[in-house]
Amino acid sequence: MESVDLLITHANELLTLKGPKKPRILEQMKKLSIIIDGSVAVRNGLIVDVGRNLRYDAETIIDATGKLVMPGFVDPHTHVVFAGSREFELGLKLAGVPYMEILKRGGGIFHTVEATRKASPAQLLQQSKRRLDTMLSYGTTSCEAKTGYGLDVGTELKLLKVQKKLQKTHPMDLVSTFLGAHAVPKHQQAAEYIRTVIAEMLPKTKGLARFCDVFCEKGVFTVPQARKILEAAKQYGLVPKIHADEIVHTGGASLAAEVGAISADHLLQSSEAGLQAMAQKNVIGVLLPGTPFCLMMQQYAPARKIIDCGVPVALATDLNPNCWTENMQLMIQLACLKMQMTPAEAITAATVNAACAIGMQNTVGSLEIGKQADVLILDCPNHQFLPYHFGVNLVETVIKKGHVL
Ligand code: NIG
Ligand code: FE
Repeated sequence: MESVDLLITHANELLTLKGPKKPRILEQMKKLSIIIDGSVAVRNGLIVDVGRNLRYDAETIIDATGKLVMPGFVDPHTHVVFAGSREFELGLKLAGVPYMEILKRGGGIFHTVEATRKASPAQLLQQSKRRLDTMLSYGTTSCEAKTGYGLDVGTELKLLKVQKKLQKTHPMDLVSTFLGAHAVPKHQQAAEYIRTVIAEMLPKTKGLARFCDVFCEKGVFTVPQARKILEAAKQYGLVPKIHADEIVHTGGASLAAEVGAISADHLLQSSEAGLQAMAQKNVIGVLLPGTPFCLMMQQYAPARKIIDCGVPVALATDLNPNCWTENMQLMIQLACLKMQMTPAEAITAATVNAACAIGMQNTVGSLEIGKQADVLILDCPNHQFLPYHFGVNLVETVIKKGHVL
């Protein structure tokens, strides 16, 4: 018998999500390509076989009888590298103070910027590492991480370097996004700060970031300002992303299509025209239901409308000090219970489409021969259980690049 390093076998349901290495849309999002009594064989950290009841001579065999086996979650939108915390803002939120008002008063992002500027690289590294550990324990095996709590040249660079260090030292696959345009720093004019972002920060992202994001929102950066920053970012080889139409409709979705963004994120207030433009250009809609959840909003992104427009949808945590969760299972639960996505759509959004949203579709996001062996074993008899049994960690075993963690 042929030998492998690891064989996971007899999964009650094995979700392969096999298919083209591109974002899934419409009905494709419902297709998980399930194998009953499924097995995955792993050699040198890669998947070498997937099928029903496979037989191999394996160094390690995991019997997944009665369990759900699926690809590791991909979290394509996080602000995981930050210092401090903002639990005291909950009182303000409960008293009805809106998110943007807290920011205007000098709290919110600005509070975190102050703490992050003060923190040493070692402190940031240690705090972020803990969060990545938690993410892994909840089944996230790849993620994106943004800067944006520096808002000055030195601190933005410090954040990029901390991310680089995490890439080298942590088992999590992490891709970096430069988000210098997360807010206009206190006591500065937008135009002046944008000049700094373009002239001094963007050139320093070389070899450190893969994407460039802008918080395009009323009272933060306008569509023309975001366009200017993202067009400049492209000159440095960065691929655009946008925080779009989160609180009010500004046209961020249309801008994402126009500049060739890989994703537009949030999308609570996007127009039909904006969504159509995204669909046309295959821009992924990254939905972040944790944010309206912890801002106690009634409204979530209109996922059904977004999917029906033909936009490929992904899910992410938005992990940040306003919305502090490492848990992609909760995002799947909110996607189903608050945004009317089906369990299969939510799982596609949290795996293969999420991988596409950070350009990792060639290596992760599905269980297929040649891809990384990033595999989860969950204490669920089937995939519908994932949004159904909520509020606990259903992930029993996390396998990263073939290693059982
Ligand atoms: O995606 N909206 C802007 N950025 C983050 C929140 C950052 C913060 O509040 O610290 C978001 O929601
Ligand atoms: Fe965000």
